[in-house]
Amino acid sequence: MLKTRFTELFGVQHPITEGGMQWVGRAELVAAVANAGALGFITALTQPTPEDLVEEIERCRELTDKPFGVNLTILPAINPPPYEEYRRAIIESGVKVVETAGYNPQEHLADFKANDVKVIHKATAVRHSLKAEKLGVDAVSVDGFECAGHPGEDDVPGLVLMPAVADQLSIPLIASGGFAEARGLVAALALGADAINMGTRFMCTEEAPIHRRIKERIVEATERDTDLIFRTLRNTARVARNDVSRQVVEIESWGDATFDDVRDLVAGTRGRKVFETGDPDYGIWSAGMCQALIHDIPTVAELVDRIVCEAEEIVSGRLAGMMETTGVAA
Ligand SMILES: Cc1cc2nc3c(=O)[nH]c(=O)nc-3n(C[C@H](O)[C@H](O)[C@H](O)COP(=O)(O)O)c2cc1C
Repeated sequence: MLKTRFTELFGVQHPITEGGMQWVGRAELVAAVANAGALGFITALTQPTPEDLVEEIERCRELTDKPFGVNLTILPAINPPPYEEYRRAIIESGVKVVETAGYNPQEHLADFKANDVKVIHKATAVRHSLKAEKLGVDAVSVDGFECAGHPGEDDVPGLVLMPAVADQLSIPLIASGGFAEARGLVAALALGADAINMGTRFMCTEEAPIHRRIKERIVEATERDTDLIFRTLRNTARVARNDVSRQVVEIESWGDATFDDVRDLVAGTRGRKVFETGDPDYGIWSAGMCQALIHDIPTVAELVDRIVCEAEEIVSGRLAGMMETTGVAA
């Protein structure tokens, strides 16, 4: 058993989280993660209304009696979703841990804190992590450049970003982006993190509620099979490389492209169809570089057990075996 500040603070067995994933973070996956002793997050905005979110939380409770959380992704939009109502739905459902992401969580913190909800804020930079700590969040999840979804605009990979954050942060740090197996977990702990967060790896499990063909596509993919879109809009997203992502990158290379030029290609409804129909080239869908490290479609329990057991073996076997005993008395 790996005991860290994260496992202590959140009362879960293993230092592993399954971060919010649009269209993927539903009750069946989150409950499987909870039952495996890790911490999963239902993705609030996958549910069309706050009332649907309440039902999804109830559905998850029917599948597990272990703790789980909700991800609230805050994105600036012309017609934003009713964030305050989603927040109330989370609080009134009795959920005790939230992962915020996308934007400064300040306007939601007081309400969460007043209702004993612990907040993990997902950030992509040292300065944003420290800001979140100052605002009063309980832990920070930091996405390195390798990650699926939004890595920010600084392009700092986890190997540098995690210790750079760990050096300055006092609250628990969850390392995110590029983690898929035991070696990554041990490395993250060595870099100063208290847990890892995985997205792409959990997408490729039996319980993830997406078409099997997409999981098989992840297994086939290598570390080179992602594209960075929206670079020119300063809203970079790492997505699975496919026909549509190539077109978006091509249009952005014109230099004067606007969002309107790619709007139809990147429509969320098309991305959702990918997961429903299993056609990997139908739209844009998120996936990270760690596809290279994913070779099978296990159950969530098999995956978590494997990562934790192998991590213990690396620490107490391989690494301990490297410590040379000189036999010289001090
Ligand atoms: C399909 C998919 C959808 C995602 N959607 C969201 C989201 O809605 N909100 C969010 O905060 N992060 C989202 N993410 C990012 C993950 O929570 C996590 O930070 C990221 O996957 C970590 O990188 P990894 O894939 O290399 O493990 C998504 C990731 C994937 C793979």
